Amino acid sequence: MSEPISSILFICLGNICRSPLAEGVFRNEAQKRGVADQLTIDSAGTGGWHIGNPPDQRSIETAANHDINISHQVCRRLTSRDFNTFDLILGMDNSNIINATSANRANGPAQLLLFTQFAGMRDDLEIADPYYSGVEGFETAYQLIKQASRSTLDRLFAD
Ligand code: 4NP
Repeated sequence: MSEPISSILFICLGNICRSPLAEGVFRNEAQKRGVADQLTIDSAGTGGWHIGNPPDQRSIETAANHDINISHQVCRRLTSRDFNTFDLILGMDNSNIINATSANRANGPAQLLLFTQFAGMRDDLEIADPYYSGVEGFETAYQLIKQASRSTLDRLFAD
């Protein structure tokens, strides 16, 4: 590995739409490369409305359309401890980063960055919240997440 990163936490607002998709898609891409056993991969939300719930049905279906099962995931909230236990915390949009740094939660050594930024994609590119959109918004999120996952793995496992 070119960078000492072995644990990644994906975050969004609710932890029912985007970050569960990111957790599932990133793990799937890591498995395809044979590096999943070298990584701890998880997701959490900055908000606490859906704690204990499975992902949004539209996220489950979008993932299933691409042969990825995320139905077993359970929503949890981001904690201050996550900043000590994860090397990297990746947000889907800028408000996720702002929310994660508020309330004194970001008090550990974890790097907190926009997912697309870590992946080296366009600077202002966010993975938009699809919660109030139709299924197309979920597919758009999936495509961006897949691209960002591949670029992130290229970066982490560069020769
Ligand atoms: P997510 O989407 O942040 O991608 O999980 C949302 C899910 C739920 C809510 C907002 C965004 N909510 O307000 O309940």
